[in-house]
Amino acid sequence: MPFSPDRPYNDLPPLRPQKDVETKAILKACIAARAALAELRVSGQLIPNQSVLINSIPLLEAQASSEIENIVTTTDRLFRFANEAGNQADPATKEALRYRTALSEGFQSLKARPVSTSTAIAVCRTIKGVELDIRSTPGTALMNETTGAVIYTPPEGEKTLRDKLANWERYIHEAEDIDPLIRLAVMHYQFEAIHPFTDGNGRTGRILNLLYLVDQGLLDIPVLYLSRYIIGNKQAYYDRLLGVTTHSAWEDWILYMLEAVRETADWSTARIRAIRDLLDHTAEQMRRELPKIYSRELAEVIFVHPYCRIGDLVEAGIAKRQAASVYLKGLVESGLLQEMKSGRENLYINPALLALLSDRPAARSTP
Ligand SMILES: Nc1ncnc2c1ncn2[C@@H]1O[C@H](COP(=O)(O)OP(=O)(O)OP(=O)(O)O)[C@@H](O)[C@H]1O
Ligand SMILES: [Mg+2]
Repeated sequence: MPFSPDRPYNDLPPLRPQKDVETKAILKACIAARAALAELRVSGQLIPNQSVLINSIPLLEAQASSEIENIVTTTDRLFRFANEAGNQADPATKEALRYRTALSEGFQSLKARPVSTSTAIAVCRTIKGVELDIRSTPGTALMNETTGAVIYTPPEGEKTLRDKLANWERYIHEAEDIDPLIRLAVMHYQFEAIHPFTDGNGRTGRILNLLYLVDQGLLDIPVLYLSRYIIGNKQAYYDRLLGVTTHSAWEDWILYMLEAVRETADWSTARIRAIRDLLDHTAEQMRRELPKIYSRELAEVIFVHPYCRIGDLVEAGIAKRQAASVYLKGLVESGLLQEMKSGRENLYINPALLALLSDRPAARSTP
């Protein structure tokens, strides 16, 4: 049966795609994206303390990916509440922080098993904060938020969904003759078209993209800010996903994803270099102006926690509470940090790092 927007698309074709996914244009774009990713991987290795990167780029990714789904929070709020135990954050910030947690747990899980259906379930559970599973009831559809018109109705029936996911899983690991970046694009379309959950499919799929890059050995840690491109080119993201469904427009979709990888790999590389330069510069200034308290670890801790607490220094083994407080006040006096009250505690903010991390293009369009 041909595709119809308001009928469950149980005829979604299994992978591999019937169209040629290795056209000349695709292979050319693939080479460029692979080169950009390779450079990103090397630049990530230039910062020995990987927590600096793990605590910054994934938060930006979490913010943008959540914003694609209209969960809007600011970079400042995200970093501020990033390492708070209780959490006084607003609901949107909490939800974006759960995305960060899902990405990080997913990354850890790769040591035990590759990207699979169970990875997807675990990721979606963490994002949504509930014990959900593969959809077993009908009624899920993608709608145009303004007109309410149904754009796409995913397949129905738990067994159908599980079978389609099993096919998806086999393809991503077994189609080894196809470049992993092309497989990534195919995998993302297919996952979104299956739409296994009642909600959270977009965010889960975008986390799986990053995990897959690590899984395939193209990245060591998930520091590609891929959702930056998607939110900047959101209408094309929706249009090209739909294009595969309505007229098998695989080439347009794959080219979109390859360009997303290339552009955001370049952006992430530039940002990582800037973070490293700022860290070196900050350490140098501390050594010069505050020789009594200087240590490389102290310089690093205000990059691992751009909203730093006294407890963060204690935890990092830099000093006991009283000395830690003196250190942070010294950094405020030298202009490297700004002090802010937060409940009964003081927060010490690294404004130069936050400024460096906060630039992002505004969304150009809405669905
Ligand atoms: N035509 C389409 N075909 C398949 N998938 C699509 C299509 N259009 C959009 N999508 C995907 O569906 C996602 C939205 O689905 P869903 O609402 O389940 O995920 P979520 O957005 O993460 O959750 P929420 O928006 O409600 O917070 C989009 O982000 C996109 O990835
Ligand atoms: Mg949704």
